[in-house]
Amino acid sequence: MSNKEISQAVVSRLPRYYRYLGDLRDEGIERISSQELSQMMHVTASQIRQDFNHFGGFGQQGYGYNVEYLYTEIAKILGLDTIHDMVLVGAGNLGSALVKYMNFRRRGFVFKAAFDIRKDLEGKEISGITVHSMDDLKDYVEQEQIDIAVLCIPKQEAVKVADLLAQTNIKAIWNFAHVDLHVPPRIQVENVHLSDSLMRLSYNIRQYEEGQETLPEQN
Ligand code: NAI
Repeated sequence: MSNKEISQAVVSRLPRYYRYLGDLRDEGIERISSQELSQMMHVTASQIRQDFNHFGGFGQQGYGYNVEYLYTEIAKILGLDTIHDMVLVGAGNLGSALVKYMNFRRRGFVFKAAFDIRKDLEGKEISGITVHSMDDLKDYVEQEQIDIAVLCIPKQEAVKVADLLAQTNIKAIWNFAHVDLHVPPRIQVENVHLSDSLMRLSYNIRQYEEGQETLPEQN
């Protein structure tokens, strides 16, 4: 089965499996059963088996899963066995924080340069990454064969910058601006909206509190 056929629901669970398996691997654990993984991750064992079956299983009856093998295979499916070169667009608060977060590099996502319209930021460094003029973005992306552009700019600007990036060979946009981008299908877009996550949290607080109100009082 090709990776294309794995549903987005399964794909969305893979990073979590990958993190847990990475931790197990770091602890020197060589194998794990779906039951053990299920207890750790609070996911049913049957869900784990179903998910892993989508890409060939990798488990053996009575042995469980080989942690190293599963970790490596999931990394391949997620495309983490290659380095992804990235540029930041918008070297403000959010953009700078992302560049400073070193774990992305550990996962193979490497910031090569930053770009900003503010002239006073040009030539400045953030964690060893130089901020360049926006005039140089297009050429830089082409020459350095950048894979991913990370947009940390206001939404109106993001639309314009996405149009500019569509004229390059960029493969993906990691979009933090609160706007839907319309780019050719060859460019993958992943939107990240922390406020959506907060709204879900707010909903869950309310659901929990309403549930508590309807519970019978305890002595
Ligand atoms: P900020 O004002 O600190 O930084 C924005 C930077 O973008 C500035 O340095 C500015 O000069 C630059 N910029 C503006 N237009 C540009 C353009 N056309 N080309 C290149 N650079 C440009 O703002 P902050 O806090 O870093 O937020 C950035 C954006 O991210 C905002 O639009 C905000 O709404 C959004 N945001 C999204 C979050 C999310 O969860 N998706 C969370 C926080 C912020």
